[in-house]
Amino acid sequence: MPKIIIAIDGYSSCGKSTTAKQVASRLGYTYIDTGAMYRAVTLYFLQNHTPLTNPKAIQQTLEKIHITFNFNAKTGRNETCLNGLNVEEEIRKLYIANAVSEVSAIPEVRWALVAQQQQLGRKRGAVMDGRDIGTKVFPDAELKVFMTADSFIRAQRRQIELLEKGEMVGLDEITENIKKRDHIDTTRSESPLRRAEDAKLLDTSFMTIDEQVEWVVQLADERISSLLRQGHFKKEIV
Ligand code: DC
Repeated sequence: MPKIIIAIDGYSSCGKSTTAKQVASRLGYTYIDTGAMYRAVTLYFLQNHTPLTNPKAIQQTLEKIHITFNFNAKTGRNETCLNGLNVEEEIRKLYIANAVSEVSAIPEVRWALVAQQQQLGRKRGAVMDGRDIGTKVFPDAELKVFMTADSFIRAQRRQIELLEKGEMVGLDEITENIKKRDHIDTTRSESPLRRAEDAKLLDTSFMTIDEQVEWVVQLADERISSLLRQGHFKKEIV
């Protein structure tokens, strides 16, 4: 079966990564969590007190950062490593969430990570989730999905997620964080979060993860069949 790129963009806490991960596993595709890459850079910047307004220092710091995804057989997941160190747990903490939008708005950071993401997906057969996948990283992705959900429901989901990791945070603080991130993500000058014209809209407010996964998998099947009918994959089939 020919392989495509599935780009899943949208606001935080809409279920993007959980859906993307399961879609990838159903289709036998690679899952690439681009948010984790921005989170890992943020962690490094915080640890090294990188001045966020000094492009030269940012460029020099970026050259020292090497992000990889390593498969953990125990959890059955790909986990984020920063310069060889597993930072999967650390980058999910609230102090990183509070700083990541500011770091990911820096053009030099985006240029470096977008180039890496394009490299990671060059063979297709990937589900990539983020904020600019369908608009910037893979504007030619065969399937684009834009996810959204009611902001109160998003805050509740984030609270449960943090609680499962042992972080007890009030809904007010989470709502503030979500609002701030939405604002920075949608108004930054370099590839702001927006729905690509050809992205399918998925409002997950009242959907289960299984329903979301099914929705995307069905769209992927339809898209592949339609591309096959149009003769798009001729070279691979011969
Ligand atoms: O999906 P996430 O919550 O882990 O993403 C963390 C932050 O990274 C989010 O606030 C915006 C930023 N991000 C981005 O700017 N572009 C992407 N492709 C992915 C994430």
